[in-house]
Amino acid sequence: MSVSIRIVITAFCFHLLLLLVNSSDMDPYKALHIILNHDGTLTRLQTPPQSQPSPDPNLPTPALSKDLPINKLKHTWARIYLPHKTHSKLPLIVFYHGGGFIFYSAASTYFHDFCANLANQTQSVVVSLEYRLAPEHRLPAAYEDSVEVLHWIKSSNDPWLTRHVDYSRCYLMGESAGGNIAYTAGLRAAAIVDQIKPLNIKGLILIQPFFGGTKRTPSEIRLEKDWNLPLVVTDLMWNLSLPVGANRDHEYSNPTVNGGAKVLDQIRLFGWKVGVFGCDGDQLVDRQRELLKLLEDKSVNVVGQFYTGGRHGIFIGDPSMSQKVFHLVKSFYS
Ligand SMILES: *[C@@H]1O[C@H](CO)[C@@H](O)[C@H](O)[C@H]1NC(C)=O
Ligand SMILES: *[C@@H]1O[C@H](CO)[C@@H](O)[C@H](O)[C@H]1NC(C)=O
Repeated sequence: MSVSIRIVITAFCFHLLLLLVNSSDMDPYKALHIILNHDGTLTRLQTPPQSQPSPDPNLPTPALSKDLPINKLKHTWARIYLPHKTHSKLPLIVFYHGGGFIFYSAASTYFHDFCANLANQTQSVVVSLEYRLAPEHRLPAAYEDSVEVLHWIKSSNDPWLTRHVDYSRCYLMGESAGGNIAYTAGLRAAAIVDQIKPLNIKGLILIQPFFGGTKRTPSEIRLEKDWNLPLVVTDLMWNLSLPVGANRDHEYSNPTVNGGAKVLDQIRLFGWKVGVFGCDGDQLVDRQRELLKLLEDKSVNVVGQFYTGGRHGIFIGDPSMSQKVFHLVKSFYS
């Protein structure tokens, strides 16, 4: 597969390429192929490719997968991944997909393939959550779903979980908006550790997490018109996902407001390991470095892995970069 084709199918905003071909218009609605309706809902004119789950052990997949409902009223569900031929109990990774809080699904091929490889290569059970999207369900809806799935895992009788999961070793992982959700789920879970037992969280893996703020960072200014993820697009994503009337210095978008969440002190005491991935070619990189610094200042056990070049989405879309994530997960396990 040529590099250009891979970028088209994997880039976070692959829609933008069409725009660049067709016109020089930088209307973010047109760029994202979305229409905001009068009732506050969004018409999404393009759906990223999706994959079916594959529970058949005779098929040559990286891992088995199946879908289970979480909350039927909220239409949330999870895709669960189990490595082939497992005998021992495995660590659990709860995964939150990206897409600016407004796009993508746990069924999207882009995230399905990543999670199947994650399960196989790190020998983990992966639970990838289908959470509610904005603007139909603005934040904190996705955060509520992100914690509800932890309660669900704890009480589920599904044999893939009860037979194969070591509940004492659970990690929360997410990419882009999913990295923001994994972080917030971690903050919320840290405040209720007794309620989710025997599930025991040991760490967070935040892959190019999506954060913002009203004051522009140098990387936002430098990469304002980035083809992959321009600033008008991330501004619009915040407008569509934050509570109505909130600005980007809301605690949901800016983790550094008021000196950071108080519960980070608990996370330090629990000894959770946190990994933060980023790269210079992503306009969000300075926000990710700010988060790393906040965690370091709080003496949280955090590892930053920052790379030169690249772009937003590269750790999911480029298999060689996904390996960096799998490697860190394995180092957390050992
Ligand atoms: C599963 O992971 C191992 C490395 O741990 C790798 O050698 C193998 O090719 C992977 N299998 C599939 C089907 O991707
Ligand atoms: C986001 O909202 C702010 C405040 O209402 C507005 O000034 C800005 O133009 C909006 N941006 C986008 C991309 O919609």
